[in-house]
Amino acid sequence: MKRTHHCGQLNLEHRGQEIVLNGWVNKWRDHGGLIFIDLRDRYGVTQIVFNPQVDSKAYETAKALRAEDVIAVKGIVKERPSEAVNPKMSTGAIELYVHELEILNKAKTTPFEINDLVEVSEELRLKYRYLDLRRQKLQQNLITRSHVCKLVSDFFHSHDFVEIETPFLMKSTPEGARDFLVPSRNFPGRFYALPQSPQTYKQLLMIAGFDKYFQIVKCFRDEDLRKDRQPEFTQIDVEMSFVDEEDVIDISSRLIKQLFKNIVGFDVALPIKRLSFQEAFETYGNDKPDLRFEMPIVTLNEVFHDSDFNVFRSVIENEGRVASVVVQPADGFSRKKIDKLTDRAKSLGAKGLAYLIYSGGEFKGSVAKFLSENELKTLSSKLALRENSLILIVADKYDVAYSVLGQLRLEIAQELNLIKADRYEFVWIVDFPLLEFSKEENRYVARHHPFTSPKADQISLLEEHPEKVLARAYDLVVNGNEIAGGSIRNHRRDLQSKMFEILKISKKEAEAKFGFLLNALEYGAPPHGGIAFGLDRLVMILTGAESIRDVIAFPKTSSALSLMDGAPSEVSEEQLAELKLKIG
Ligand code: AMO
Ligand code: AMP
Repeated sequence: MKRTHHCGQLNLEHRGQEIVLNGWVNKWRDHGGLIFIDLRDRYGVTQIVFNPQVDSKAYETAKALRAEDVIAVKGIVKERPSEAVNPKMSTGAIELYVHELEILNKAKTTPFEINDLVEVSEELRLKYRYLDLRRQKLQQNLITRSHVCKLVSDFFHSHDFVEIETPFLMKSTPEGARDFLVPSRNFPGRFYALPQSPQTYKQLLMIAGFDKYFQIVKCFRDEDLRKDRQPEFTQIDVEMSFVDEEDVIDISSRLIKQLFKNIVGFDVALPIKRLSFQEAFETYGNDKPDLRFEMPIVTLNEVFHDSDFNVFRSVIENEGRVASVVVQPADGFSRKKIDKLTDRAKSLGAKGLAYLIYSGGEFKGSVAKFLSENELKTLSSKLALRENSLILIVADKYDVAYSVLGQLRLEIAQELNLIKADRYEFVWIVDFPLLEFSKEENRYVARHHPFTSPKADQISLLEEHPEKVLARAYDLVVNGNEIAGGSIRNHRRDLQSKMFEILKISKKEAEAKFGFLLNALEYGAPPHGGIAFGLDRLVMILTGAESIRDVIAFPKTSSALSLMDGAPSEVSEEQLAELKLKIG
């Protein structure tokens, strides 16, 4: 009995027709001599009815059916009695009266009910992922993901981009995250690496003359996982020749506009606003600000530079920052709650958290008595204080002051429900520093990656003041998530070699690791640049999923395990011997 229709399809137009459906038993109930079953497939659910008067054999067989059995049914579509109509279901106006039933496969009792509303531990869900994936929500997420990929592909093809696959077995050139390694059988002791991104390949494709490339591609990074990270994830990878920042930002913005319009019906206003890295950090405490709510950080150094309050003044004298966020109204911020915030600030690395409450034209709070009337007056106008405001102040080193307040800003907004759902606030972060100093490695490392070009007018600063040089890099952020990042690259060998020098990668090491790219740069490499979108994060936002795992068919746990098949697993002695590997 092959299906003639699917389970989300039937309506009053099919009244009286004989139909065959195939699917899973979603729900089984016996109503005084009639058996009702919700039959499910990925398109929806149809109510089917077994009446002994219609067919006693089918009725008797249906008695033994259980949830998740796979069946085929033939029957006649009937209009439901008016009191049984379900306007929430696409098939809610009809039911199928079955006169033939075939059990295609029985199911064991599943470890959890297949239902979006049932709470199940994530461990169990991941172990039985194929059952979890029967749930409507996850099916919808993956179907949306498939739509996104189609739109992305159509978009780039319509703009003359060429889709090119790049290798998964490549040379290990770790810069950034750790590589996943694959031992070579033909060359014992030698390893391939899985790509962290196709960065070098896409640059080589520009040198080859492809001009516009894109690929939806898996990337692999052996890094510590967080909520929005997976060891293997997917990028929408893009590279273009003869372009500058504006071209890449423009085409990326247009792609985003199309995706959000088509998938969630949201109009992204172009151009998307921009913030420099410095503005973002000093106003929101990080480089991926959530702009769905206000509460900006305000720097107060100019208010307190002559203060008698030593905590503030000494921080300013030592080139630190005194900075604040204002919470208004201050209702509910009891002493106890503020103490908790103080502990939180300390756990984030601040030395302390000062607070003021402005109410009835007066200031109260931990530091009110240390501050002069004049300071409080200037503060009041600088912060445009309104009645009943709580002012939280951190005085600390530059990074600490802003990052701690940025985190408190987010946590308070979440707690007070200030973050408007169903809104998408986009921002391009630009003017990133090219380098950052790594204390662990005692050298500068590239903030984005070592192929990113410095701003042309700052190349001369590279030797003396590497920390001051800005990069031709850009990140796209939505609602506090970094969904894409890219840059204009070094297309001349001398500049690329200089970058390696600044990164303390010796000539020999640079040659060994990146010789192929450096050489290629000498054979007519065009100016080029690109970007990569995190597809999983993007789909997470488009579906409103809470975890990146909810938009990936077979994700790993936060410790990079696959609970379903048990990877990573041990391998046989023979396999190891063939690779000449010993487990130490
Ligand atoms: P980058 O490292 O910024 O750039 O990565 C681009 C985007 O990929 C997503 N992403 C991740 N998503 C899930 N899990 C992860 N572990 C993970 N790591 C990154 C993020 C990020 O913005 N080759 C460059 C791009 C370029 O310069 O063109 C690159 O890989 O959304
Ligand atoms: P103290 O003089 O150490 O008792 O501090 C006076 C007030 O300043 C207390 O409320 C502290 O919480 C606050 N405070 C101390 N250090 C800092 C700091 N680095 N930033 C903000 N407030 C601080």
